[in-house]
Amino acid sequence: MGCNDDIKRLIEAEDLTLPPPEREPQRQYYFIKKCREIVKKKSEELGHPLYACSVCMGCQMNARDSEKLVGILELAGFVLSEEEDADFVIYNTCTVRDNANQRVYGRLGFLNSMKKKNPHMKIALCGCMMQEASVIEKIKKSYRFVDLIFGTHNIFKFPELLCTMFESGRMVIDIWKDTEQIVEDLPAERKYPFKSGINIMFGCNNFCSYCIVPYVRGRERSRSPKDIIREIERLVKDGVVEIMLLGQNVNSYGKNLEEPVSFAGLLREAEKIEGLERIRFMTSHPKDLSDELIEVMKESKKICRHLHLPLQSGSTRILKAMNRRYTKEQYIDLALKIRREIPDIAITTDIIVGFPGETAEDVDETIDVIRQVKYENAFTFIYSKRTGTPAAAMENQVAEKTVKEGFDRVLKAVQDTAKERVALLQGKVLPVLAEERNEHDSSLITGRLSNNTLVHFPGDTSLIGKIVEVRLEECHGFYYLGRNIKDDV
Ligand code: 5AD
Ligand code: SF4
Repeated sequence: MGCNDDIKRLIEAEDLTLPPPEREPQRQYYFIKKCREIVKKKSEELGHPLYACSVCMGCQMNARDSEKLVGILELAGFVLSEEEDADFVIYNTCTVRDNANQRVYGRLGFLNSMKKKNPHMKIALCGCMMQEASVIEKIKKSYRFVDLIFGTHNIFKFPELLCTMFESGRMVIDIWKDTEQIVEDLPAERKYPFKSGINIMFGCNNFCSYCIVPYVRGRERSRSPKDIIREIERLVKDGVVEIMLLGQNVNSYGKNLEEPVSFAGLLREAEKIEGLERIRFMTSHPKDLSDELIEVMKESKKICRHLHLPLQSGSTRILKAMNRRYTKEQYIDLALKIRREIPDIAITTDIIVGFPGETAEDVDETIDVIRQVKYENAFTFIYSKRTGTPAAAMENQVAEKTVKEGFDRVLKAVQDTAKERVALLQGKVLPVLAEERNEHDSSLITGRLSNNTLVHFPGDTSLIGKIVEVRLEECHGFYYLGRNIKDDV
């Protein structure tokens, strides 16, 4: 993609007869060029191109990281493939909940059988799960066939690590505990030509007591506004109309910069970029959401009418044990204030059921918040014990049956209130960004409203990437079936 053209020229200009440069990202450009020679030689030996398959298992942050991995693999001469019987397979892992970890171990067993059929195959693991010492021990002991392991802090070193992997022939492991470093200008291959995620900050300082993210993603670091705006401008030149600003807690963006900037200030700058149509962001911590942000959202023509505002629990007692630093009442006041100020906004949330010590009465409190806020959508998770977090050491873990009952009740409350909220738009004509062909019915196009609600409508793929005026005809709970008003006769 166009954005990579400058980088391609810089890679070409590297001189492999010299030792690798010390500076980043030039050092990695050198290794991309070197890797390209290795890949070329190997594919000549094998008599076919080297296929690479990248699998992403995590959140939007991981998805963005995977776009960087894919961009590097392409420039290193691999041919991308969806199939896991490729010559190089990389899993970008998640470890927020234990079932994500279990999935990786299960799939590794399958990869091992692939590798037995293709001894040239190389297997790499990266991402959050690799930042856990116990995971590395387990892989070293029981999954000896893995060739390369790295973590979240040194993903920029991927080209160099690829070269080491090919040259050493041994299991290469490179995990950093933390870093201050932010390496700019790595290549990336976007999954969608018209929309893109953009990291504005890395890490998290909140230490919610159930959450492993601060341990695997390290301390909060913000990118400079100049670098962010430059990246958005380049993306827009390259055809992007919608951006999603990414951070674990975007509301504390900029606090650790030499010249502090607020998140609202960054949004104001992004708003000015001509050609950019939609601005989204993830995730907001309720404790840091400022009136300035509400003001900026209210005035903006580009910031989407959607706020993801994780609640986690509606019980003040549990919120305290979770170290969330707000009460039930503070959360409700904030959500209702946002609804008042920006009436067409959709509010979505994350909820955890089964946190240590949670009773049926605590779940009732959560349901009370759901009924008052009426989320357009909510992700409900069963509490997962993460070794090393304070909650894992709490003695009052909740019995599975109790958790299941609470979970079902919360899910039902979410479904009922979401249906009610989403149905309010019935009959309206609203702009939809057409994103892809519908997975189940190829005569339909799937897109999103500014408020993030999904809309399916008859249309062809020429509409993808365009903003289309759609009449919302049938509400189906969380999504709509609609009709392009241009198709009206
Ligand atoms: N168990 C269950 N859910 C969790 N989340 C984070 N940690 C855990 C855990 N240990 C959820 C939170 C967060 C979302 C990304 O994942 O709801 O907002
Ligand atoms: Fe985890 Fe809390 Fe940080 Fe979110 S804000 S990543 S839940 S510690």
